[in-house]
Amino acid sequence: MEPRPLEIVPSMLDCDQSRLADEVAAMEAAGADRVQWDVMDGSFVPRLTHGPDPVRDARAASRLQFEAHLMVDHPETLWRGFVDAGCEVVIVHAEATRHLHGLLKDIRDAGARAGVALNPATPLDAVLPVIDSLDHLLVMTVNPGRGGQEFIGAMTAKVRAARALVEERGLDLDIEVDGGVNAGTAPLVAEAGANLLVAGSAVVRHPEGRAAAIDEIRLEAVRGWRRRRKLEAERGGEAPEEPGDPLRRGVELFNEGQFWEAHEAWEGAWMPHRRSAEGDFYKGLVQVAAGFYHYRRHNRGGALVKWRSGADFLRPHGPSHEGVLVEPLVTAVEEARARLEKAGPEWPAIPAPRLDLEA
Ligand code: DX5
Repeated sequence: MEPRPLEIVPSMLDCDQSRLADEVAAMEAAGADRVQWDVMDGSFVPRLTHGPDPVRDARAASRLQFEAHLMVDHPETLWRGFVDAGCEVVIVHAEATRHLHGLLKDIRDAGARAGVALNPATPLDAVLPVIDSLDHLLVMTVNPGRGGQEFIGAMTAKVRAARALVEERGLDLDIEVDGGVNAGTAPLVAEAGANLLVAGSAVVRHPEGRAAAIDEIRLEAVRGWRRRRKLEAERGGEAPEEPGDPLRRGVELFNEGQFWEAHEAWEGAWMPHRRSAEGDFYKGLVQVAAGFYHYRRHNRGGALVKWRSGADFLRPHGPSHEGVLVEPLVTAVEEARARLEKAGPEWPAIPAPRLDLEA
């Protein structure tokens, strides 16, 4: 069964609560795939947020799918208001109700996708009896109740086990993570098998803005997702996806302006070196290609962040390395960055440098 699409799901918790309809529209404009409403009752979690009214008011402001994450006791008394307010997905906590099986059936019967969230201390086994009544499994990667917390690394194993269960049973289930998700943790959870990544503070507080944040998290998540595919292929004894030498393949693709594919090819070159200092050379190429990918999407922040990091990784490998002329590449990337930083609101034309391999 084809895995469900990888999506970035900003949480509305850290947004301006006085103008949520505008905030949802801004998330859509920034490239969000859906949004999550964090509903807290002050009992299941200490914080109290809102009921369905702000969700209903925001519904007309966006075409995005709405998820209601009910961090409330007795969700069986509240969930329908969120479906009526326009939520396509309703997520209840396994710890919050004695009637989980019936509740999931009611949510599905109302035409919404039924989701269960598991707190960090709740084992995956808690959903086994209702796994066939689920459309969506949310593995909490923080203890629920507030944004901006540290990602709990141990939850990656729970995500991996959940993905294994889904694949073993051939289920068509979204696996979502929520809490401490950012560009650093996105590859971990994506490689473990999550396909929906909720991010609150990493999006709303990103210095380069929401579009850069969402793009950056997506890019890093796709890397993790692709790495999962490569490792599965290796384990399955399948031939590697990229024909030939991934380094040179990446140069060809980059020079053809296929920046995403070049980033992918260089990601493949980086994999065998990922645990050594040598890996920084390939990582630098990956970042440079990612920067031109962001540049083409007019994502100023994303381009600047990636070009800065790419030049930093590459600079120590000059003047040339593995047949790639590094020095001229670093110079070109630093010039591109300077031009973009100085540019006004109009979008500057910055041609990508041509990469030459030593003869
Ligand atoms: C925590 C909430 C999270 C939060 C996002 O209880 O469920 O969705 O808003 O957390 P961060 O800011 O870590 O992405």
